[in-house]
Amino acid sequence: MTKLSTYMLHIIKSYLKFLWNSTNQHGVHSPFVFNLTTKCFYNKSNYPEYKTLKEYRKSLLENKNTIEVTDFGAGSRVFKSNTRKISAIAKNAGISPKRDELLFRIVRYFQPENILEIGTSLGLATSALALGNKNSYLLSLEGCPNTLSVAENLFNNKFTDCNFEFLNTEFSSYLKNIIHHPSPINLIYFDGNHSKQATLEYFELLLPTVNNETLWIFDDIHWSANMEEAWEIIKNHPKVTVTIDTFQWGLVFFRYEQEKEHFTIRI
Ligand SMILES: C[S@@+](CC[C@H](N)C(=O)[O-])C[C@H]1O[C@@H](n2cnc3c(N)ncnc32)[C@H](O)[C@@H]1O
Repeated sequence: MTKLSTYMLHIIKSYLKFLWNSTNQHGVHSPFVFNLTTKCFYNKSNYPEYKTLKEYRKSLLENKNTIEVTDFGAGSRVFKSNTRKISAIAKNAGISPKRDELLFRIVRYFQPENILEIGTSLGLATSALALGNKNSYLLSLEGCPNTLSVAENLFNNKFTDCNFEFLNTEFSSYLKNIIHHPSPINLIYFDGNHSKQATLEYFELLLPTVNNETLWIFDDIHWSANMEEAWEIIKNHPKVTVTIDTFQWGLVFFRYEQEKEHFTIRI
């Protein structure tokens, strides 16, 4: 079996398991998670910011220039070469339009003051994080300088009213010095190195920054058997109380007043 078909088989099995275990708001008894599900996840409002998110995506999808990409992390399942079209990166490596809008709603709902994104790429998710709370301070980390400069140029043109900063850095080297970051960090979006080892390393390095309001969102928790192992370890960590598995994302809360409980919710 090829690597790709092993991956497809894994995803299909995981997704069927997810569908079997998942619920909508009717299976949720925690008021905190019920409100989040009904007022945020399933909120059907057509926010004007969605248009800005679409325009940002369109400008990348129409960009036929190529850049030389520095490869990090668990590697690409799509690209063979490091010379890549910006439009192709936007199509394959970025957050989907549906998730982009959901990320915007999550930020809008919680209004975090400090946001950290681990893995900027072309800034698709960054745009949702920035628009969700224009009063927040948003820092986004990316190791590839050429990819980052595309995002940075677009942001400098389009998001002049947002408070953002981009940093070209390898993740671990920055996170090892995270104590210098303005804290607490209220929301972290983990969308960089999708390997078990790196995910757990970042998890441990960032633990000192959590408080009662902290929300961490891990992308691609079912991407591989190893990522599923990392997700189980995160769920069982004594500091973690509530978790929500939405298949694509694992949401993690550290709220002291909540009983430890794991939810699996279809969005
Ligand atoms: C999946 S992409 C991020 C997508 C982006 N959040 C979005 O939705 O548009 C992951 C990014 O993380 C970067 N990356 C992966 N591992 C890294 C590492 N160890 N240090 C720095 N950057 C890394 C890659 O260069 C890539 O651009």
